[in-house]
Amino acid sequence: MKFGYFDDSRKEYVINTPRTPYPWINYLGNQGFFSLISNTAGGYSFYKDARLRRITRYRYNNVPLDMGGRYFYINDNGTVWNPGWSPVKTELDAYECRHGMGYTIIEGKKNGLKAEVTFFVPQNYDGEVQQVVLTNEGAEAKDFAIFSMAEWCLWDAQDDCTNFQRNFSTGRVEIEGSTIYHVTEYRDRRNHYAFYTVNDEIDGYDTDRDAFLGSIYNGWENPETVKAGKASNSFADGWSPVASHYKKITLAPGESKTLIYILGYAENDQDKKFASEKPANLLTREAWVLNKEKAYAMIDKYNTPEKVAAGLAELKATWDSLLSIFKVDTPDDKVNRMVNIWNQYQCMVTFNLSRSASYFESGIGRGMGFRDSNQDILGFVHQIPERARERLIDIASTQLSDGGCYHQYQPLTKKGNADIGGDFSDDPLWMILSVASYIKETGDWGILDANVPFDDDPEGKHTMLEHLDVSFYHIVNNLGPHGLPLAMRADWNDCINLSCFSDTPGESFQTYTNPKFKAEGGYSKIAESVFVAALFTYTGPAYVGILEHLGKADEAAKAQAEIDKMKKNTMDSAFDGDWFLRAYDANGEKMGSKECEEGKIFIEPQGFAVMSEIGKEEGADIKTLNAIDKYLNCDYGLVLNNPAFTKYYIQYGEISTYPGGYKENAGIFTHNNAWIICAEAYAGRGEKAFEYYSKIAPAFTEETSDIHKTEPYVYGQMIGGKDAENFGQGKNSWLTGTAAWNMVAISQYILGVKPEFDGLRVDPSIPSAWDGFTATRQFRGDTYEITIKNPDHVNKGVKKLTVDGVDVEGCIVPVCGDGATHKVEVVLG
Ligand code: GLC
Ligand code: GLC
Repeated sequence: MKFGYFDDSRKEYVINTPRTPYPWINYLGNQGFFSLISNTAGGYSFYKDARLRRITRYRYNNVPLDMGGRYFYINDNGTVWNPGWSPVKTELDAYECRHGMGYTIIEGKKNGLKAEVTFFVPQNYDGEVQQVVLTNEGAEAKDFAIFSMAEWCLWDAQDDCTNFQRNFSTGRVEIEGSTIYHVTEYRDRRNHYAFYTVNDEIDGYDTDRDAFLGSIYNGWENPETVKAGKASNSFADGWSPVASHYKKITLAPGESKTLIYILGYAENDQDKKFASEKPANLLTREAWVLNKEKAYAMIDKYNTPEKVAAGLAELKATWDSLLSIFKVDTPDDKVNRMVNIWNQYQCMVTFNLSRSASYFESGIGRGMGFRDSNQDILGFVHQIPERARERLIDIASTQLSDGGCYHQYQPLTKKGNADIGGDFSDDPLWMILSVASYIKETGDWGILDANVPFDDDPEGKHTMLEHLDVSFYHIVNNLGPHGLPLAMRADWNDCINLSCFSDTPGESFQTYTNPKFKAEGGYSKIAESVFVAALFTYTGPAYVGILEHLGKADEAAKAQAEIDKMKKNTMDSAFDGDWFLRAYDANGEKMGSKECEEGKIFIEPQGFAVMSEIGKEEGADIKTLNAIDKYLNCDYGLVLNNPAFTKYYIQYGEISTYPGGYKENAGIFTHNNAWIICAEAYAGRGEKAFEYYSKIAPAFTEETSDIHKTEPYVYGQMIGGKDAENFGQGKNSWLTGTAAWNMVAISQYILGVKPEFDGLRVDPSIPSAWDGFTATRQFRGDTYEITIKNPDHVNKGVKKLTVDGVDVEGCIVPVCGDGATHKVEVVLG
């Protein structure tokens, strides 16, 4: 069952009922100011950091689920309704929500009145613009009132939802004309404020939530001021400050009225915090006055429909240009819309926000993840390489000089989070992969010389290359009894915690140190991760390639020897006959083996082992891929492990705490499905690669949205696995490494257009039924128009490659570097 449709020509998903099976959201903003917005206008805004600079309040896990946002209420002769249906939920005569690239348009109609609201965050602007167009489509004149509504968050979202004894008494506002300013804590220790304005005179306002609602027993669905058709002109003093504008409107038949609301954020320098005079129309309870210069300038920027149209056009042009860097035309429309629009769009969002703020990530728990953000770069780097570069340097600066890493850092402070700490065994390797992908994309070898400090040596002069060295050797220097990497607190799988042995409620599996291992430095020196071994052999060659390029032949050979050794150790000690083990636990027992009672096979190490060709000469690759198909493949994707754990395995940590079929315990973790898609494509099995791709790619789930539940235009982290009661149900949409990895899987492995250090590899691995496809790729200043022909209907194999009609050996298109457009023709066979 569908709840809308793709409008590819406008790059939009159009939702045609407000009753989606879960809130279907969009992200506005891609620089400093961000908003989440659902199809019923739920959501919230923040500046840069969803925890430390939360602008509007949102209550997670609310009942109903999606309550709170920026709402417009209309009172049309006693009928109260919202353009987005919620929160009043008056049945609308028509409803539509269009989620586009950085904007959302919600339109509702009731009794001949149409309200169309366009929400967006303009480029280089710290505010959300909301343009409301009201049209009387009836035959009679209409008198009605419109109320806006936003609830302020008291900045620190963590404090805001916990520290009520204080924050019920701190709220402060100022009102000037049609603008309501939120200035809680401004005088004292903050230099930032927010405002909510409308470009017209208003007939009243409310800034106190209880006054707006009329009673503490009312919810957002039942505000008494709106019902009464009149604001109460309340002035917030502590409790919960809000911002609501009240405006009376009369429209003749056919007449329209446009109102532009702006929800903005601004910061003042210390010496410019206060205004010297108090304007006559200013409402305040304070002796000081906020300096509003920046807000005035921001308001002036978007206070007419023409300016709003220009801002929207600029945003659209930005996205058109971003999405023109890589475009494909394949025989499959769903592939086209994923690759050309939605997957790339999601990669921007995950790049921006890592795992901080979604409808499943509260924005207070985590900042940016070391492993997460490094992986996000893989899917984003071609869009704005300069931003990827800056991010790489930020991330690397949180690394320690021995190669260890802080697992997370706050985007506002760019400092590692001490409460989570480090010792996640996979972290350093993602850094090698992301820096290499940046160089492959740009050819900017200079990044290796960039000055990048270590967290424990902030003043020291260090280069990015040193970060790669310590990353590589952090693995080599921390091996266990089988010569495989120590598992430490966790590897990619946060829930395989082999040194934890927790039997006490509330202990974090990731940070708790069992006294047993305290003396050893915090984690077992026996437990080893086969996943990290395989990731090491997959990423290591990029490091070697970098050293070779720099002419460091000895160092390259030394690193290669470590990779070869790791491959051998993995084959010797971690191949279980038909697939690779997952780990050795702290007791030295195998995890993910035929010998285990449950969890006999795990997905994570397999794809990287196959792509590293570990044991290929003995057929380990095909055996492994076949085992995955046999044990992990199901209707909605590949489960993480099988059989699911039904008992608690204290020696494994968090994983078996999940009911079977969810999350890391045999859920379909779409992130690592991509690694198998890549591996199948790598092995030349284009049919299988495509089968797995199309099981999880969101556009392919559209028809079963009633089962899948989350948005059909973006990936979620997880789909309920075959052991789950809710088999096929998506969860944790938007912020997941799945976005970047599936972008890699489809573009670089299936479609086979893959940047390399010395050029653009074109080596597809596609369904044999395809006659071919075309692609446009901007790469290092040139544009490549690529045509793939598949006359023999094979899966893989480049028989002939020409660039501008000239034959090229192999499948790497050399960098032309003349800024021109080049024709690349590939014949498979
Ligand atoms: C989540 C985390 C990611 C981790 C994965 C598996 O997606 O963001 O860092 O690798 O779960 O546990
Ligand atoms: C990651 C994992 C999740 C786990 C959590 C622990 O988010 O995806 O399953 O519970 O880390 O912090």
